[in-house]
Amino acid sequence: MSGEKGKLWGGRFAEGTDALVEAFSASEHYDRRLYAHDIRGSKAHSAMLAKVGVLSADEVEAIHLGLDDIQRDIESGVFPWDPAREDVHMNIEARLTEKVGDAGKKLHTGRSRNDQVATDIRLYLRDQVDALLVSLKSLRAALIDLAEREADTIFPGYTHLQPAQPVTAGHHLLAWEAMLTRDTGRLADLRKRLNLSPLGAAALSGTSYPIDREMTAATLEFEAVIDNSLDAVSDRDFAIEFCSFASILMMHFSRVCEELVMWASPQFGLIALPDRYCTGSSIMPQKKNPDVAELTRGKTGRVYGALTALLTLMKGQPLAYNRDNQEDKEPLFDALDTVSAVLGVMNGMLPAIVFRADACRAAAGKGYPTATELADYLVRKGVPFRDAHEMVGKTVALAVEKDVDLAELSLDEIQSNAPLAEADVFDVLTLEGAVAARDHIGGTAPNQVRAACERARARLD
Ligand code: ARG
Repeated sequence: MSGEKGKLWGGRFAEGTDALVEAFSASEHYDRRLYAHDIRGSKAHSAMLAKVGVLSADEVEAIHLGLDDIQRDIESGVFPWDPAREDVHMNIEARLTEKVGDAGKKLHTGRSRNDQVATDIRLYLRDQVDALLVSLKSLRAALIDLAEREADTIFPGYTHLQPAQPVTAGHHLLAWEAMLTRDTGRLADLRKRLNLSPLGAAALSGTSYPIDREMTAATLEFEAVIDNSLDAVSDRDFAIEFCSFASILMMHFSRVCEELVMWASPQFGLIALPDRYCTGSSIMPQKKNPDVAELTRGKTGRVYGALTALLTLMKGQPLAYNRDNQEDKEPLFDALDTVSAVLGVMNGMLPAIVFRADACRAAAGKGYPTATELADYLVRKGVPFRDAHEMVGKTVALAVEKDVDLAELSLDEIQSNAPLAEADVFDVLTLEGAVAARDHIGGTAPNQVRAACERARARLD
């Protein structure tokens, strides 16, 4: 090791790094989580160097044994992380040389930290994406099961948060599942652009060694190599795309959680959340608060923040690598940690929601939600829709005045505004009749909800 204070790049420096600068530029305290992927990348790179004759078989063996040793040290908590070595890459490389001597100094041949870090983040994010895909799928499966169980449960449907028309709880749950299906598609799609190898781009222009980029790409299970070396080291679109996916996912969960908070409140009383997903108050003994739902709603902001941070990080950067890029990791990791924690609790909490069927039915009946049914009935008797709308409006006003439901009016009272109504009008004024009538693809009728569950299940894979 040459130069000041043992820096791997110290050769041309005459004085040590300022202490504040050392702290300012160090990233090892957060990028150390890339260690396993960094080691995997280094093994692939050194094995390739041996194959093309740049390293000897003995050297590559020493490097691999040393890296295994380092991985064990990191995992058992005895690795001597050193902020003076800046980042995870130089911590591992410097330690490798301490462990295996000169062979360690050859690891970085034909490579730069610029292609190394781009490779590490892609490998790390790919593993995380795969775990999230599994988690999303299990949540969707659980929502489909719950929707099937609640396919007949009459539930209030809202527009403007005013009672609109009755739906079934299963239908509402499948709308949530549809959001997550789109999120899954976005995640699977960004994985394709993520899963490409920057390794071999070196600092920016490639390298004069006879490297085999296809070999390292295949070893690391990348789909292909990134064509342009300048692009390979500077592209962070994949991180932005991930945060974009994560922001939309969180927006969906935030909406779902907003509904849970309302539905679980005593005023709505439509659902019970399991105790294990709620917390109490330190002063009010009666309280059972939906904190998990509220925290999820709250955490949405920090994920949007990560997306904004990354977009802003990239917007002013000329090609190729700039140190700015070190700032990509904390927002990306925070977004990752947040969505994986949220998916974890959602997988537990959402399938455990208990629908209070009687309360749901009572709420669905409030606010004259069968008014559209009455209008459609009059249309079937030959009344033009606009006239029917007017007649039913008057009928609703009468019911409001008498403080009764539409079905509690007498036939005479209904006929006073809608002369074509007959005794069979009461058949359409039931909640069950209203939902069963929406019997087409995408409609809320229980048999349609069951069919939709089947379709949703079929597209899980
Ligand atoms: N820690 C750096 C990062 O995350 C690694 C690459 C540094 N490259 C350089 N030329 N200084 O971006």
